[in-house]
Amino acid sequence: MCGIIGVTGAAEPLQVMLDALALLEYRGYDSAGVVLVDDDRLWRRRDAVRGHSLETLREAAADAPAHMTAGIGHTRWATHGAAVERNAHPHCDCSGTVAIVHNGIIENYQELWDKLAAEGHTRSSETDSEVVAHLLERELATGAGLAEALRRCVGELRGDFALAAVTTREPQVIAAARRTSPLILGRIDGTGLVASDIAALLGTTRDLYQLADDEIAEVRPDSISVVGLDGQQRGLVPLEVGWDLVAARRDGYDDFMSKEIHEQPRALADTLMGRLHVDGTTELEELRLTGSDLDEIERVVLMGCGSAYYACLSGRIAFEHWARMPAEVEIASEFRYRDAILGEHTLVVAVSQSGETVDTFHALREARRRGAKTIALTNVVDSLLAREADGALYTRAGPEIGVASTKCHATQIVMLQLLALHFARQRGAIEPEEGRDLAGGLLALPGLVGRAIARMDDYFSVANRLSEVQDVYFLGRRVGYAVALEGALKLKELAYVRAEAYPAGEMKHGPIALIDESAVVVAVATRGRLWEKVMANIAEVKARGATVVVVCGEGDEETKAVAEEFLEIPVVPELLSPAVAIVPLQALAYGVARARGNDVDRPRNLAKVVTVE
Ligand code: AGP
Repeated sequence: MCGIIGVTGAAEPLQVMLDALALLEYRGYDSAGVVLVDDDRLWRRRDAVRGHSLETLREAAADAPAHMTAGIGHTRWATHGAAVERNAHPHCDCSGTVAIVHNGIIENYQELWDKLAAEGHTRSSETDSEVVAHLLERELATGAGLAEALRRCVGELRGDFALAAVTTREPQVIAAARRTSPLILGRIDGTGLVASDIAALLGTTRDLYQLADDEIAEVRPDSISVVGLDGQQRGLVPLEVGWDLVAARRDGYDDFMSKEIHEQPRALADTLMGRLHVDGTTELEELRLTGSDLDEIERVVLMGCGSAYYACLSGRIAFEHWARMPAEVEIASEFRYRDAILGEHTLVVAVSQSGETVDTFHALREARRRGAKTIALTNVVDSLLAREADGALYTRAGPEIGVASTKCHATQIVMLQLLALHFARQRGAIEPEEGRDLAGGLLALPGLVGRAIARMDDYFSVANRLSEVQDVYFLGRRVGYAVALEGALKLKELAYVRAEAYPAGEMKHGPIALIDESAVVVAVATRGRLWEKVMANIAEVKARGATVVVVCGEGDEETKAVAEEFLEIPVVPELLSPAVAIVPLQALAYGVARARGNDVDRPRNLAKVVTVE
C-alpha cells in the first residue's frame, strides 16, 4: 500500500509531488507528507487527518522555500504505528539531513533498532520505516554517497519494501530501491522521477523504467543509473504502458466507484475482444502454453484475495462444468503456508486486479517453486505478478481507482470463464455446438450488464429503504454463493454493515440461529439448477421473521412474491450469471454507503493495493 513520489530537477518539485500524491492517494490515505531538499536543509510538512492531508499540504505549499532542488513525498496506509503525524512519512535521521519514504514492511526493524539505539540513535516514530533513515545516516558518516549508502542498507533489510531517500549532502540525488513492492523510474527534460505507481507519472512522462528486486537507483535531473546489491552496474529496462490519465479521471461521475460500475459493459467487451469469436473459437496466445502443454494439465488451482478470490469461486464452476477438469480455489494469503501438493501437471492461475497484492505474489512464487505452471490473471500490464508468472492474461478493465473492486471483479470472472471455455475446446470436453452457445452467452454479457446498470435507480431505491440495516445475511448456491460472498464484502467494506454470506443450504446447520425479525436476508434467487432449493431456504428464514431481498430474473413474479424487496436483472444462463447478478449488489452497497455519508472511493481502514502480509 502507500504511495511514493520523488522528483529532482523540476522547477517546482513540490507542485509535481502534490499532483502525483493526489493520484496515489488511493494506495493509502491515513496521512501524507513531503520533504524538499537543498544543500542547506530539509523542509518537511506532514499531516494525518485521514483523507484530508493533501489539502493541508497544499495550504502549506504557500510557505515552501523557493529553489529547492529535489523532494520526496508519501501517502500512507498505516501498518506499524498509529495514523498520527509523528508516524507520517517522510522520516528523518537524528541530524535532520536525511529523509526517506517507504512502502512495505521492514520485518527485522526491531533488531536493527536495537543496534542503532546502542550506537546512540534516537527515534521519533513508532514505524518500522524510520530505521532506514538512521541506517543511511550511519553509512553516510563513512563518506559513502547516498545511493551507495542505500545499497549497503538494503543488504541489511528483511521484508518487502520500496524506498526513496534524499540528503542535503547530495541535494540533486534521489536514491531508490525496492524488493517486491513496486517502484518505477522516469525522466523528462532535465527532471528525474521515482514513483510507486504508473498512474502518478503518466501525466508527466512516458519515458519510464523498471527497477528490479534488490536494485538501487541513483536518480539525478539528467541521468539515472542502477546497480545491483553486488554494486555492479545494471542496464535501464524501459516500461511499456498503455493507460492514459484521462481514463483515470472521474469523467463527471460523483466518484470513481460509480464511474467504474458504469464502465463494466465496456470493460467486459474489451476483455473478450479478439479472444472469443461467435463460432466458439478462442485466441489466448498470451498464455504462452502450447496445445500439448494444455493437454498435459490435469488440474487447475485458482487463487486470489478478496474479490479476486470470489471471482475464482465462479471460475472453478466453469472449469469443472465445461472443461471437466479438477479445479480448486485457494485463498492466496493461506496457500503459501500450506504444504500444497503441486507438480508440473498443475496449472495455477493467480488472479489480482493490481498484480501487486503481496499475498498473491508470494503464493504464485510458491506454486512455481513447487513445479506448477503459472498464469497471472491481472489488470496491470507488466505488474509484479505478470513478470513472475510463466504467462499473463490481462483483463482490460482500465484503471480501477475506487478501493472497492467492481469492473475488475466482473472482468476477472469473465476472463476465467473464457479460459475455462478455451480448455474445454482444447480438450474436446464440449461439442462445437455447445462451444458456440457458450461463446454467444459470453459475448452477450456486456449488453446484459448494461441492462442491469440501466436499473440502477431501482437498486438505489431499495438501498435507501435499507440504509439503516444492522445485520445482513447473503445467501446463494453454486455461482450464486460466489455472488453472495462478493455482495457481502461490498456491503462490509463500503457501508460498514455486518454482512455474512452463506451457501443457502448451510443456514440450517447453525447460522439460522441468528435469524430473527431484525435480520435482512439477501438471496441470490435467479433461475438455475438449484432455484427451488434456494426458494426453500428463503422460506426457512422468512419463517423466522427475516426481511427478504431477492436478486431475481426480470419479470420472475414467483420469486418476487416471496420477498419484501427485489433486485431484478436480465435473464441470463445460470453459469454466466455472476457478472450480471453482482451489479445490483454493488449498487446496494454503494447506495447504503452513500446514504450513511461514507466515502465510497476511500472506505476506512482500507487501501486499494495491499502490499503487506
Ligand atoms: C475488493 O473490493 C477489495 N478491495 C479487495 O478484496 C481486493 O479485491 C483484494 O485486496 C485483492 O486485490 P487485487 O485484486 O489487487 O489482488
